[in-house]
Amino acid sequence: MDHIEKLIRDIPKAELHCHIEGTLEPELMFELASRNKIKLPFANPDEIRRAYAFTNLQSFLDIYYQGADVLRTEQDFYDLTWAYLNRAREDNICHTEIFFDPQTHTQRNISFATALNGIHHALEDARKKLNISSHLILCFLRHLSEEDAFTVFKQALPFKEKIIAVGLDSGEAGNPPEKFKRVFDAARSEGFLTVAHAGEEGPANYIWQALELLEASRIDHGVRCTEDEALVTLLKEKQIPLTVCPLSNIKLCVFKTMHDHNIKKLLEKGLCITINSDDPAYFGGYITENYLACHRAFKLTTDDIVQLAKNSINASFLDNEQKTTYLNRINQVVNTL
Ligand code: ADE
Ligand code: ZN
Repeated sequence: MDHIEKLIRDIPKAELHCHIEGTLEPELMFELASRNKIKLPFANPDEIRRAYAFTNLQSFLDIYYQGADVLRTEQDFYDLTWAYLNRAREDNICHTEIFFDPQTHTQRNISFATALNGIHHALEDARKKLNISSHLILCFLRHLSEEDAFTVFKQALPFKEKIIAVGLDSGEAGNPPEKFKRVFDAARSEGFLTVAHAGEEGPANYIWQALELLEASRIDHGVRCTEDEALVTLLKEKQIPLTVCPLSNIKLCVFKTMHDHNIKKLLEKGLCITINSDDPAYFGGYITENYLACHRAFKLTTDDIVQLAKNSINASFLDNEQKTTYLNRINQVVNTL
């Protein structure tokens, strides 16, 4: 292992873009299917993995929503989240801000509380037993109506203290941020922060909308910002973070190969870029593999890795004191190199 690879593994980092439903490994999918007496249309985990050949975002989402159907009980959501957090520990993730998609579950008559409580308990256990801090972000499914988003938003209000922000995910093209302006207004007036997927498959204009209409603190993906120079300037000047997910972008054909990815250029331009895993069970790698894939394509330097890790802490929703603690820990690791 070269010294950059060791640094990538060892450096404390935050993950800011990971869908908990996207961490469902085929082995656990089988275990939960058996526990819940569900018949999967696959013979074994390897067959599931072979089905993960995506051509775009929608081709992935179809399989992903089907996979989530094995999640039925609070224990299932706990087990899913606990498995991710143990994997995160191995990657030296010190803080994670995970997304969950309640509508994927409430649509199947699984209650909001079942999903929320299972996930929340695992996050609390990880704080105590794995030394990982966390926040939870509720994502609205943008292919559904704003009225639907309002319904789930109302279900979330009794659990408000356990959710830091609302976000927007699912099929981007044809579902612009403006469609959700009123529900995001309502969320902000209840004290939620906001983020949004934008500029993954959708145009740069959707990033403008996410910033101006939804007042997003971060943009999830955002890689198509380069189609608008004024937007790139704004992202740089205001240091609005982009939560980039390199392996996801290749798997979903946003870029043809990692060499074609614009992450290194964005980093060089001085934007606040972070590296994240998105749906690691589906895209072939957790956060460390995402850093490593970028390193292999672009020969990242020590300074690049430290910058990316520090960006992840600075872009998080931690308070300043917690940020300082983690930034000091990064410096300690770098000083022992
Ligand atoms: N849901 C899970 N992963 C997603 C992605 N990459 N884009 C939009 N919605 C998602
Ligand atoms: Zn995502």
